[in-house]
Amino acid sequence: MSPGTDEWSRRDVLKAAVAVGGAGALSACLDLTDEPVPEGVSDPSTLPARQHAWDDLLTRDGAENVELPRHQTLLYLTLDREGTPTSDDRRAVEEALSTLDRAYERSNRGLIYSLAYSPAYFSRFVDPLPENVDLPEPRRLSPFETPEFDRQDALLHLASDRADALIEAEEALTGERDTANEVTIETPLSAAFSVDSRRTGFIGKGMPAEKQDVAGIPDDDPVPEESPLFMGFKAGFAKNQASEEYVTIPDGPFAGATTKHVSKLRQRLDDWYVEQEFDDRVAEMFSPAHAERGLVEGIGDNLGDDSGVTPEIIESVREHAQQYGRVGHAQKAARANRDDEGNVRLLRRHFESTDENEASLHFPSLQRRITDFEEVREAMNGTDLTDEPAIRQRVNNGILEYIFVKNRGNFLVPPRRLRVLPTPTGEVPGL
Ligand code: HEM
Repeated sequence: MSPGTDEWSRRDVLKAAVAVGGAGALSACLDLTDEPVPEGVSDPSTLPARQHAWDDLLTRDGAENVELPRHQTLLYLTLDREGTPTSDDRRAVEEALSTLDRAYERSNRGLIYSLAYSPAYFSRFVDPLPENVDLPEPRRLSPFETPEFDRQDALLHLASDRADALIEAEEALTGERDTANEVTIETPLSAAFSVDSRRTGFIGKGMPAEKQDVAGIPDDDPVPEESPLFMGFKAGFAKNQASEEYVTIPDGPFAGATTKHVSKLRQRLDDWYVEQEFDDRVAEMFSPAHAERGLVEGIGDNLGDDSGVTPEIIESVREHAQQYGRVGHAQKAARANRDDEGNVRLLRRHFESTDENEASLHFPSLQRRITDFEEVREAMNGTDLTDEPAIRQRVNNGILEYIFVKNRGNFLVPPRRLRVLPTPTGEVPGL
């Protein structure tokens, strides 16, 4: 699709609208889209028990890899009171969320979302969280980062292929409009919560190329049209992702929950694109063996449902450092991303952003314990490999030269039955 056609400008306006938000943007969206957004359910108990059960509700590509919704919004929320939430707070939040459930089909075609809670939220209560819930405060995860810590009470993550549905839902939640997909919203989420920080993003073929005129990306439009991400490759192959079952806390008061780490990374891709050839990028993203053997074509669709990071490639990381003078991002991270039985530990759901006109990445990752994420991030740091002469902390060390951590936050995504302001003992009094 070339710029200037009606279709191109419609898509462009939708993306701009999600980025900008606000009532003007919404009316622009509604004018431009005539397909109805599919409705939700009259009985919310028919919805999945886990808030993080998204995979069966989304689309798949030809190799059965899950495709994340194209437009996404993260609302970092602060509870508008000191101390513990009241029954009124819980009723307001429940009312707002169940309105969304009735208004929009829970899918990429309607709206999919989850509400998660931070350690700071749980510290409002006297009781501690159960021992099997591993939810520490966020902290620095590498010696070379100075992130801001997101310690707001809650994180609402909204996602849809429909930019208009996403914006309308957000405006209904924040009290800027009375209806969501023609369902009246009696009590908005803003009756209990304030939005402290609003972050937006997107993922999917075409969008990074269209949005590449931002800080962090060289001026000659290097992002391939078909790439779902700014760095020019696809990610999230089915066999390199944990299952939703695997990342679920299996027992205790929060059975059915998962933990969510969300970082925001700024990308600076000048040297990624300008100084390097395609094979260099393959070596640094996947592994030097991937480049040597020509395993990746284009954005990597040819890989099917597996990135090709084999146990042999994982074990050869030090040898690769010596032989090729660099190591791959996926190869390094994979060292800690398998349990003793070979299961993958993290379920990554990251997407791009042009907030503040900078190329960045929102990186939500789901795992049973936050510690699991921290261990994989440590493996990705590759600090242990810097005793090899060619490998420096940020050079020849996967993609660390091009990404800069701006924010980190940790959250618990409770199961649906505990999604409304739960206590640390797994109750929702007053509902
Ligand atoms: C701009 C930032 C990033 C980009 C573009 C990116 C891209 C990729 C790509 C293309 C792969 C190989 C395909 C796949 O398995 O999905 C991969 C693998 C992976 N990445 Fe990243 N990634 C980024 C940041 C991160 C961060 C911050 C982490 C945090 C720990 C991470 C963890 C992983 C893991 C665990 C794997 C899978 C390795 C395996 O077990 O097979 N990535 N990434």
